[in-house]
Amino acid sequence: MEQNIPKPDKTFTDMKDLMRLKSLIATDIEMVLNVQIKMEAHNSAVYLALASWCDRNGFDNSADHFYKQSEDERMHMMRFFKYVADMGGTAVSPSVDNIPQEFESFRDTFEAALELEIMTTQAINNIADRCYREKDFVTMEFLNWFHKEQREEEYVARRCLELFEVIGEEGTGRWEIDRQVPKVTYDSEA
Ligand SMILES: [Fe+2]
Ligand SMILES: [Fe+2]
Repeated sequence: MEQNIPKPDKTFTDMKDLMRLKSLIATDIEMVLNVQIKMEAHNSAVYLALASWCDRNGFDNSADHFYKQSEDERMHMMRFFKYVADMGGTAVSPSVDNIPQEFESFRDTFEAALELEIMTTQAINNIADRCYREKDFVTMEFLNWFHKEQREEEYVARRCLELFEVIGEEGTGRWEIDRQVPKVTYDSEA
């Protein structure tokens, strides 16, 4: 009579199943989500540096704008962090370094902000692409909030930068730009 002895590869499959019980997300998805946690923490720290620069150069409204952005980025970080934790993964508290503290000009701070947002949009798209290839539809659905958020983040960053073209920096231009920054909002029902 044939005995039901497990084959070596069967044991391995069982182990993988056990790991699967512990975590709802694949190891490489968990890894890229942790990289994104670090990126959001980095973004938060960069916005804080931008706020500090604006504060000490007399652009109070822009400083407030960047402080608020910094808080938003921390909220983004926490969303990813909680998701990884909720899925049974290991959310890694990120280290943040190499934050630029000096910027060449007022305009340069808004260019830095837009650059940051474009890079973030690309990073989130790359995670979605990976999820798609792995058929991780749960994480893809989780990312939907971020796709919409990035649409807003990029919109606001672009409109702020456009103020430099529309108003111009001559005379009281920079003062006027700083006055207009808080009025830049994005509201779309779409
Ligand atoms: Fe973000
Ligand atoms: Fe952002």
